[in-house]
Amino acid sequence: MKLTLPLILPLSLALSLALGATALAADPAATPAVDAPALYKAKCASCHGADGSKTILSKPVKGLSAEDFRKKMLGYKAKTYGGSKKAGMEKLAADLSDADIKGLAAFVAKL
Ligand code: HEC
Repeated sequence: MKLTLPLILPLSLALSLALGATALAADPAATPAVDAPALYKAKCASCHGADGSKTILSKPVKGLSAEDFRKKMLGYKAKTYGGSKKAGMEKLAADLSDADIKGLAAFVAKL
């Protein structure tokens, strides 16, 4: 019986750590939030402008509602949307997760 306590403590610690890790992996809310402003700056601003109003390559993304933006991005991803210059956007959209697109949509809608 004397040996039990020192054994139980590390065991219960290991168990609670393991349970904690499982809970983290299973909880979608625990996924780190998308840093949409940084993502936009790094991957989109060069062509669309910091405020989304550049029109040299495409229609401005500024002014799109979150829902329109999301539909267009999902369209590029699924290759069901786009004009004559869509190839680059299809590649870019393919690298974005649904969470990325959702985060970017909320950001772009406020530009
Ligand atoms: C290399 C330049 C380039 C980059 C970088 C780029 N785009 Fe584009 N984007 C374009 C071009 C060109 C078009 C027009 C494509 C077409 O013909 O459909 C476009 C179109 C779009 C449209 C559709 C506009 C509309 O109303 O039809 C959206 C939305 C968009 N881009 C969002 C993004 C987002 C978000 C990013 C960053 C993840 C991004 N773009 C990065 C060049 C770029």
